[in-house]
Amino acid sequence: MDTPYEAGSDVTVLPSHLDVPGVGTLVVNAFVLKAEQPVLIDTGIGIDSDAFIEALRSVVDPRDLRWIWLTHDDSDHTGSLPALMQAAPNARLATHPLGALRMSTWFPLDLERVHAISPGATIDAGDRTLRAVMPPTFDNPTSTALHDESTSTLFCVDAFGAIVPRAITSLDDLTEDELVGGMTAWTTFDSPWAHMTDRSRFGQALDVVRTLAPHRVLSAHLPPALGRLEELLKIVSAVPDADPFQAPDAEAFAQIAAAIAVGPASA
Ligand SMILES: [Fe+2]
Ligand SMILES: [Fe+2]
Repeated sequence: MDTPYEAGSDVTVLPSHLDVPGVGTLVVNAFVLKAEQPVLIDTGIGIDSDAFIEALRSVVDPRDLRWIWLTHDDSDHTGSLPALMQAAPNARLATHPLGALRMSTWFPLDLERVHAISPGATIDAGDRTLRAVMPPTFDNPTSTALHDESTSTLFCVDAFGAIVPRAITSLDDLTEDELVGGMTAWTTFDSPWAHMTDRSRFGQALDVVRTLAPHRVLSAHLPPALGRLEELLKIVSAVPDADPFQAPDAEAFAQIAAAIAVGPASA
């Protein structure tokens, strides 16, 4: 778990990261949206759970949360969900209905607290209405992005993520080559179907985001991007031209595992 930071006056980032020796770093962001009805967007990685909840408490009393918006049921987003369903008894869980059912096989999830959302649905956060939209790239069919038109903000799930050289909190810490290479590497892994998709249909999915025109793009796997939308769209639009992702083979993975076991000081 890393130190929370602000992404504007109404959003606090709750960041963590995963180092993959020889590959790079994946930042993993959850967010607190300080709306009239406070919203937690995703719940971090499980190994961080105690620290995640402590970081959350430094931003908002979990009992004041009215919504937990779970973008999808991947484990880098659901880490503290069971604990938070206890710690935030006044929050409803806004998530994809089939994701909710799937998670109910993992822990005893109270389905009566679930508010089912899918693209087009809205929730009322008091001072703003949040609309569910399909992210342009994704690794999970329950993925549901969140558009806050009132602040021109898109919480875009895994889309526009990047493998970065180290844990960072600002896009200004990346060179252009690091941003292009890192986003391409991430997207070829996270959305391997991009190579199998009709190019014009892929462009139409990106145009959905272009039409929303969010000034603030908040990805789970990239530092906040302010006024950078066209740049991000251009990088992702070129992903079908990139080499498909190649997973490490058994020997390469053994080396990664050994480096993780040794730790960063000696790796
Ligand atoms: Fe994912
Ligand atoms: Fe993710």
